[in-house]
Amino acid sequence: MPLAKKDIVAYFTERFGQPPTLVVRAPGRVNLIGEHTDYNDGFVLPLAIDRAVWIALRPRSDCRVKVYSIDYQEAREFDLANLKHEKAGWIEYLKGVAWCLQDAGMKLQGWEGVLAGDVPLGAGLSSSAALEMATARAFAAVSDIAWDAVAQAKLGQRSENKWIGVNCGIMDQLISSTGLAGHATLIDCRSLELQPAPLPAGVAVVVLDTATRRGLVDSAYNERRSQCEAAAAFFQVKALRDVTMAMFEAKSGQLDATTCCRARHVISEDDRTIHAVEAMRRGDIATLGRLMNESHASLRDDYDVSSDALNVMVEAAQAHKACYGARMTGAGFGGCAVAIVRVDAADDFVAATSSAYQAKTGHKPAVYVCSATDGAALV
Ligand code: GLA
Repeated sequence: MPLAKKDIVAYFTERFGQPPTLVVRAPGRVNLIGEHTDYNDGFVLPLAIDRAVWIALRPRSDCRVKVYSIDYQEAREFDLANLKHEKAGWIEYLKGVAWCLQDAGMKLQGWEGVLAGDVPLGAGLSSSAALEMATARAFAAVSDIAWDAVAQAKLGQRSENKWIGVNCGIMDQLISSTGLAGHATLIDCRSLELQPAPLPAGVAVVVLDTATRRGLVDSAYNERRSQCEAAAAFFQVKALRDVTMAMFEAKSGQLDATTCCRARHVISEDDRTIHAVEAMRRGDIATLGRLMNESHASLRDDYDVSSDALNVMVEAAQAHKACYGARMTGAGFGGCAVAIVRVDAADDFVAATSSAYQAKTGHKPAVYVCSATDGAALV
């Protein structure tokens, strides 16, 4: 069972002897298609999921923030008037958001509370974006700042880039703050225009966690970004979003082999993402599934960000007769895959895929049907 409001309220009440004044929730996400396109000004199609970070809190009259993490069983605190980097740890995400909000001119109030989450860490489901957006939502609430979900997502991304030092794109924070129950959202990562698209009836979205992990701070992510920038410079455009497949094909012979592959992934992935949302809107699940399968092949072969575990998981999923399509999701190198599956056969799919994966790899996976939820909110 996902964490619920009553759980976080009970944690707070146990610690402070009275109920919290405010409770916030910000979800993790799974991306249906559009991978490694956000930092190329391209398109993504994620949904906010029923795994989230929760904070129960009450305001303080001073500038201190005091938080107890249920998951780490650890109390940490900081002073809003004197924000300093310390050794890496969960509290740095809260501090980074505070720093960004203050740097943007917002006047913040202190608070104290408890924090808990059920987004698996490092699994490609954006646990850090969920923590950032929950923190932003908490600060906005106690400091009486009107909630602007898109502006706050940009600040969340900035804190991840500048305070945490991870050079991520905008997708994770933006869907964590703007997600809509029952919908995936097509995001134009250049204009930040959001187009919610209802998840088709009769289809289950299944998250398949390989139980393998690799950090995002990894040089591989930054290396891909530089390769994309080099390709954009070669085509004399601002970002690969501006290169069509025809433009690419006309000149790709002049690119070195690696840059050529990286660019082909991004350009074809943008096309697939647009086609995928169109297919979803007309209820053409077979096409949506096929595009997800193609996305995986492109991430594996051209972008080179899959892993043996992810490939085994995706193949196990695709082999099931109720599966329309499956692919790795998130940055890659480990973590989760996502599949869309006929809802009436979802239980069988979960059981069959889990045991096929475990038999081949020896890892015990976590496979579950997820639902699309609303973005960061006071609850
Ligand atoms: C991570 C980043 C996102 C995005 C994905 C890949 O999740 O945080 O910004 O780049 O990888 O699509």
